[in-house]
Amino acid sequence: MLILGGGWFVGRAVVVTAEAADHQVTVFNRGRSAPPSRIVTRVSGDRTDPADLARLAEHGPWDVVIDVHGVVPRHVGAAAAALRDAAERYVLVSTVSVYRDWPREPVHEGSPLHPADPDADPGEWTWGTGVYGPLKSGAEAAAARVYSPERLVVVRPGVILGPGEYGNRLTWWLRRSASGGKILAPGSPDDFLRPVDVRDLADFVLRLVEREAYGVYNVAGPADRDTWGDLLDACLTATGTTAPVEWVDGQWLAAQGVRQWVELPMWRTAPGTWAIDTTRAQRAGLTCRPLAETVTDTWAWLASGGQPVTTDRQALHGLDSDWERQLLDRWEARQAAR
Ligand SMILES: NC(=O)c1ccc[n+]([C@@H]2O[C@H](COP(=O)([O-])OP(=O)(O)OC[C@H]3O[C@@H](n4cnc5c(N)ncnc54)[C@H](OP(=O)(O)O)[C@@H]3O)[C@@H](O)[C@H]2O)c1
Repeated sequence: MLILGGGWFVGRAVVVTAEAADHQVTVFNRGRSAPPSRIVTRVSGDRTDPADLARLAEHGPWDVVIDVHGVVPRHVGAAAAALRDAAERYVLVSTVSVYRDWPREPVHEGSPLHPADPDADPGEWTWGTGVYGPLKSGAEAAAARVYSPERLVVVRPGVILGPGEYGNRLTWWLRRSASGGKILAPGSPDDFLRPVDVRDLADFVLRLVEREAYGVYNVAGPADRDTWGDLLDACLTATGTTAPVEWVDGQWLAAQGVRQWVELPMWRTAPGTWAIDTTRAQRAGLTCRPLAETVTDTWAWLASGGQPVTTDRQALHGLDSDWERQLLDRWEARQAAR
């Protein structure tokens, strides 16, 4: 198989999983990211450069190409076109952000998508709301323009966590737990959340590849299993901290202007946030390890010197410590006055 990307997080997990299953793996990236393994075949190049893609195609054929990192539609379309004859099937790692109504409403694979422009290329782009989802929707359309439905798999994960994470979500909660002091936690400890472990996502992608599956699959952790209380408990246990946790009403936090999803990573009040129908993926074999294992292993990775890849996205995530203290003071004054 050919993996476009493979060096940061999801792609890295896919490479490790594929090799463990004795697949022959070629990775294509610019060579800035360290390879997760010495036995993969490496082809260096920039996917934005048509000449590099043409040179890549000469290294084929492959049974399948897994496009892990594709976001810009024009680049996904160019890769698909260049590899059309070199790779039998195309797997695109997309996202639930492609759904027009996510996170306001529950989504299933047939829910409406953001309008897709398969030729879009905004040049510079950021992770900002209203940018990423439409781009990924366009990326799906770009792949589908080249690969017919029975040769195409689109995987749409929600939040992905685990060793190697660079979005600063679980890593932020872990570092926050480790730093001690009273921790502001959003909503109720009984609220559910459904992140998926990167290794479970990689296993699932490989399962789809091995079964020559096709179609679209939402991917998220199990419904009604893991709570915010479980998450915070696991973070405190993993980091060996005994800091008190103050659960603060979510609507009140929103009214204070706390930026949802970013300042308190993974928290938002929109009712569809975790309402992702994953029935298809479960039927196709998605299995999810306990959240506590994801948390423990991510802390072990960080504590042993694991370095998340640097992106502009990390800086978006996390609550400033002075702002957290102010919010806790305000909340406690409000509670005392009641
Ligand atoms: N994180 C989440 O919670 C979440 C949720 C839903 C969906 N997703 C999706 O999951 C995927 C995450 O992928 P990842 O970043 O972890 O993938 P990855 O394959 O592990 O890492 C990205 C790779 O792309 C390479 N790369 C970057 N720019 C390149 C270019 N111009 N030409 C060639 N190679 C290039 C990088 O290597 P070099 O720097 O060496 O080139 C790196 O190896 C994305 O598609 C994202 O949309 C993420």
